[in-house]
Amino acid sequence: MRLRFVLLVLIAIGALGGTAALLYAWESPIPPIDPRSFGAPDRALVRRGASLALIGDCATCHTAPGGVPYAGRLAMPTPFGTIYSTNITPDPETGIGRWSIQAFMRALRSGVDREGRHLYPAFPYDHFTRVSDDDARALYAFFMSIDPVNSSAPSNALPFPLNVRLTLAGWKLLFLRQARFVADPSRDERWNRGKYLVDGLGHCGACHSPRNLLGAEKASAEFEGGEAEGWRAYALGRYSQSPVAWDEAALTDYLANGSHPLHGTAQGPMANVVDNLAQVDPADVSAMAYYLASLGKSEGRNKSERVPFGPGRLPQAAGAQAATPSIPSEPGGAIYATVCASCHEGDRPPPLGGARLDLSTAVTDDAPANLINLVLNGIPAAGASARPIMPGFGDVLGDRQISDLSNYLRTRFAGRSPWDGLAEAVAEARGGR
Ligand code: HEC
Ligand code: HEC
Ligand code: HEC
Repeated sequence: MRLRFVLLVLIAIGALGGTAALLYAWESPIPPIDPRSFGAPDRALVRRGASLALIGDCATCHTAPGGVPYAGRLAMPTPFGTIYSTNITPDPETGIGRWSIQAFMRALRSGVDREGRHLYPAFPYDHFTRVSDDDARALYAFFMSIDPVNSSAPSNALPFPLNVRLTLAGWKLLFLRQARFVADPSRDERWNRGKYLVDGLGHCGACHSPRNLLGAEKASAEFEGGEAEGWRAYALGRYSQSPVAWDEAALTDYLANGSHPLHGTAQGPMANVVDNLAQVDPADVSAMAYYLASLGKSEGRNKSERVPFGPGRLPQAAGAQAATPSIPSEPGGAIYATVCASCHEGDRPPPLGGARLDLSTAVTDDAPANLINLVLNGIPAAGASARPIMPGFGDVLGDRQISDLSNYLRTRFAGRSPWDGLAEAVAEARGGR
């Protein structure tokens, strides 16, 4: 009798909780619009939207390899399974051609599609939630002005219960802070502009901040370094592990041109980011650099002479004894002398010589991922040249050799103790591509 009563109460509580959860999770559809209802596009607004779309890397995620820009279908591997980006061209059937401005804004800032379905946070709406109404309108004008493409994304490959979109309401309850950007009146306009772009459309923290087990960024560890597509997205600001401290001028150069003489060239997923930023209003890029520089800087680990490569002044890599070093006895050192030193040792600047490894964050960082990726795959050709900037050695060096080599570079050029578990990390990096 007692037991039955307790059970009934439990069931009632469960039902109420379930109903409350459903009510919370429920988002209503927003009625479709007639795609022919658009007037002539406002050219200035469309141009601004195009620049904002570059800051937001919309094309980077919404374009499949070799596919039409914004038509979607890019497979995005996540720790939970594969999610496909969608078609955001104004195609009425397979794209967002029937989406009103309200539906577009809701997707961007709340992660809900026109029909009311929750979207996966692989779409960084946890950052885009800060986007202003004006900027969202400009983005909408731009997307409605591009050519429609008929293209549907394959279904996602996610395990139960993650394949049930309603569960995302729980994720949002825990991790999504929906708030537009509020300017800090104690800072100047450029700083606020930079913070607005870095935290919002630029979604820099999506890669540069660590994530928790449920895939949400750790709010308390902003910019302490994260992971993206098998690459380490280095810590920024005062957590930076760069051997050379970053300042505003270096950040501006690196973000706008993709490289800096003391910091090397952006690789991996950062290469896409800087390709996009190269095309946006330089004032916006410089505001981002200004804001990032204000986050403080680490001292820079390497206090040795900081001289960039360039004609006239050709420095030695720190620690190099002679231009033609004798072959070191440890296995890693012998590999270095045989396959790397011809470019990285001595006095030839890029493009003929390599970068200074004593200045490379890939060698000083706590994570070996980027050094491994560079040694395995090299650096692809850029511009008109068909020759790779640096050849990959994945076919000629075994896992053990790459791990010996990496730890030789680490002790010699960064003066730090060897990385643990390197051979496994190399094997994993090979499997990942
Ligand atoms: C890091 C990758 C990434 C970036 C950057 C990104 N998106 Fe997405 N976006 C996605 C993914 C993945 C989905 C699909 C999510 C899902 O199916 O739940 C998506 C979904 C959407 C949707 C919903 C479309 C639909 O049919 O449901 C819209 C609208 C959208 N994105 C617009 C944008 C805009 C505008 C930008 C740039 C400001 C942008 N996205 C940048 C990955 C991204
Ligand atoms: C898609 C993931 C991704 C996004 C988004 C991203 N980054 Fe990066 N970033 C990386 C990776 C990976 C690296 C390491 C690149 C390398 O090894 O050359 C990196 C490197 C950097 C570096 C160089 C750090 C060092 O010590 O060498 C800076 C500075 C930087 N990013 C700034 C930014 C800013 C500012 C934004 C936002 C506008 C941003 N990143 C957005 C992935 C990302
Ligand atoms: C054919 C010449 C060549 C050879 C051989 C070569 N490199 Fe490079 N390496 C380059 C060039 C050029 C760059 C890029 C300079 C730039 O633009 O940043 C580079 C960049 C790098 C970087 C990135 C530095 C940064 O920006 O953080 C690392 C790490 C590196 N090389 C390691 C190696 C290792 C280890 C080997 C041997 C396995 C090797 N390289 C062999 C030419 C070479």
